[in-house]
Amino acid sequence: MACAGRCTSPRATAWIAPISSLSALVFYIYPAIVTAGSALVFGTRFSLPQIGVLIGAVTGCALTVDLQGGSNRVALARSIRLDSRDCTSCHSTSRTRLSGFITGKPMFAGLDISAVTDLTPPDMTWDYLKRLRDIWPRRLVVKGLVTREDAELAIGHGVDGIVVSNHGGRAEDSGRPAIASLAEVAEGVRGRVPLVMDGGVRRGSDVFKALALGANAVGIGRPYIWGLASFGQAGVERVLEILRSELVTAMRQAGTRNIAEITRAYVA
Ligand SMILES: Cc1cc2nc3c(=O)[nH]c(=O)nc-3n(C[C@H](O)[C@H](O)[C@H](O)COP(=O)(O)O)c2cc1C
Repeated sequence: MACAGRCTSPRATAWIAPISSLSALVFYIYPAIVTAGSALVFGTRFSLPQIGVLIGAVTGCALTVDLQGGSNRVALARSIRLDSRDCTSCHSTSRTRLSGFITGKPMFAGLDISAVTDLTPPDMTWDYLKRLRDIWPRRLVVKGLVTREDAELAIGHGVDGIVVSNHGGRAEDSGRPAIASLAEVAEGVRGRVPLVMDGGVRRGSDVFKALALGANAVGIGRPYIWGLASFGQAGVERVLEILRSELVTAMRQAGTRNIAEITRAYVA
């Protein structure tokens, strides 16, 4: 199981042996650095030592490809109007709007982010992924694919894993659900790289169905955050415990003795 988004409870995530992930933002910066030494690309300027700090502890990263144009989060906009808290307690307003937004995030600790103006590159293409693969020495996972063709292309570009995801509907909520796309992507992947699915995993039975449709693991976003917001690390651990125990229940109901026995036949 993987905790998606920005993990703020490392002990809880280590507890479940998750995939350690870092925001895709690092990747938007990294290609420019390696090719140019120190460059201004997408309005972002970092030096090589700085990037070394960034990637030093990272064994692999996910490149998120499904939120390139941002999104119009209406509920969020409404709730911001009703939120009377002091924004500057989390977000700096002394810099540009974007760097203010990412200021304070642990992954940028010690880095000069004053020139950051954009989180998404305007040229996110397969060639971009190729450039990234050529320079990124560690594991590279692509997150946000929902079709067999894209899975095939991603593997052709040397990715080490794929996350079937529609960003939990946060990018576009009328598109294909991840669970409905999973079987097709699994057919494209054919076991060549690990396959993770996220979006709407709320019960152990959801985990069971995802495994049956071809996922090797699932990711959770909001359930993790709900547990964290309510009870801190203990809340995250409890969320994971509930999912794990419900998965065992679903497996026993279906008569599957181990994960390998959870096959497509159970959701046909
Ligand atoms: C508050 C929040 C922040 C997120 N931030 C990121 C992010 O930085 N990068 C990313 O790829 N996905 C991000 N996501 C999307 C999740 O990684 C994941 O795809 C989605 O939440 C899964 O759906 P679920 O919330 O229904 O489990 C975020 C989701 C939430 C709720």
